[in-house]
Amino acid sequence: MRILTGLQPSGKLHVGNYFGAMEPAVRLQEVGEAFYFIADYHAMTSMRDPAGLRANVRELAIDFLACGLDPARAVFFRQSAVPEVNELAWILSTVCPVSLLEKCHSYKDKVAKGIAATHGLFAYPVLMAADILLYDSNQVPVGRDQKQHLEVTRDIAVKLNEAFGEGTVVLPEPIIREDTAVVVGLDGQKMSKSYHNTLPIFGEEKPLKKLLMKIVTDSTPVEAPKPTAGSTILALYKLFASPAAYAVMVAEHERGGVGYGEFKKRLAEAYWDFFAPMRARRAAVTADPGYVDEVLELGAARAREEAAKVLARVRRAVGLT
Ligand code: ADP
Ligand code: TRP
Repeated sequence: MRILTGLQPSGKLHVGNYFGAMEPAVRLQEVGEAFYFIADYHAMTSMRDPAGLRANVRELAIDFLACGLDPARAVFFRQSAVPEVNELAWILSTVCPVSLLEKCHSYKDKVAKGIAATHGLFAYPVLMAADILLYDSNQVPVGRDQKQHLEVTRDIAVKLNEAFGEGTVVLPEPIIREDTAVVVGLDGQKMSKSYHNTLPIFGEEKPLKKLLMKIVTDSTPVEAPKPTAGSTILALYKLFASPAAYAVMVAEHERGGVGYGEFKKRLAEAYWDFFAPMRARRAAVTADPGYVDEVLELGAARAREEAAKVLARVRRAVGLT
C-alpha cells in the first residue's frame, strides 16, 4: 500500500492544515509505504519571491519533522528534487481534456482572488496528477478542498490507461477524514490563510494565546446558558481537549454560570499543551540545520529511484522508448 501526499510551502502551518493534512499523513506512515513531499513547483503558481520560497520550503520541512514525520518510515522530499514529474505531467497533459481543467473550482477561486491566470495555474491539477501517478500511489490523504483534484487525477489515469493499456498507471483513492474535513477559524468560517482567520501551530506563547481571545462570541451574560451548536470555542476545544474535558465544557455551556472569557482561557491552555511535543521537536530540528538537508537529500534519492521505474514503464507504453 503506497500513501502519498503533498503540501504547498505557502506560509505558516495552521491548525486547519494540521488536522486536515499533517496529522492524517503522520498517522498513515504507520500503515503503508509513505511518500510525502513539499510542493514547491505548485507554490510557484501563486508566489514570485525566490528568497521567500526557499525560506518557506525550509520551514515546512521543519514543520513536517516537528509534527512527527519519521524519515525512517516515510520517503520525504522536495517536489522539484524529482524533475521527472514534469515529463509525466507532459505525457498526462496530452490525454487531459481542457474541459476537465476548466471545471476546477480551485482555479476559478484563485483567479477570482487575484492570482494571475497563468498556464501553470490552469495546469496545476495535471502536475498534481503526475505527483500522484509517478509513485504508483494507492491512497492520497487530503483535505476536502482537494477532492476535485483527486477526481481529475483519476479521470486522467483512466484516459491514459484506455489509450495505452491497462496498468500504464495505478488508479489512486482519496482519503478524506470527515470529522476534521473543515476546521473552523477564529471567526467561525473555514480556517484558511485567505480568510485571515488562522491559528498558527508554532510561534510565541503570548501572541498565540491572545489570538484565541479574539474568537467571535455572542453577548450571552455569564450566568445564562450558552448555545453549543455552531460554537467556535467548542469546535476548536474538541480538537485539543480530552473527551472528558470537552464534555465538561459542553455541560457548562448548557448550565450557564461560566463566561466566554474563561472558556477561551481553557481553550488556549489546551491548544498550547496539545502542541507541546511538536514544539519541542521543532526546537530540536531547528537546532540541527544539517539534519533537514540530509533528510531531504536522502528522500529525494529514494523518490527518484521509484519515479524512474514508473516513468520507464509509462515511456515504454506511450512509445517514447
Ligand atoms: P489554506 O486554505 O490556508 O491556504 P491550503 O489550501 O494550503 O490552506 O491547504 C493545505 C492542506 O491543509 C490541504 O490538504 C487542505 O485540505 C488542508 N486544510 C486547509 N485548511 C483546512 C481546514 N480549515 N480544515 C481542514 N483541512 C484544511
Ligand atoms: N494541491 C495540494 C494543496 O494545495 C498540494 C499537492 C500538490 C498535493 N500535489 C499533490 C496533495 C499530490 C496531494 C497529492 O494542498
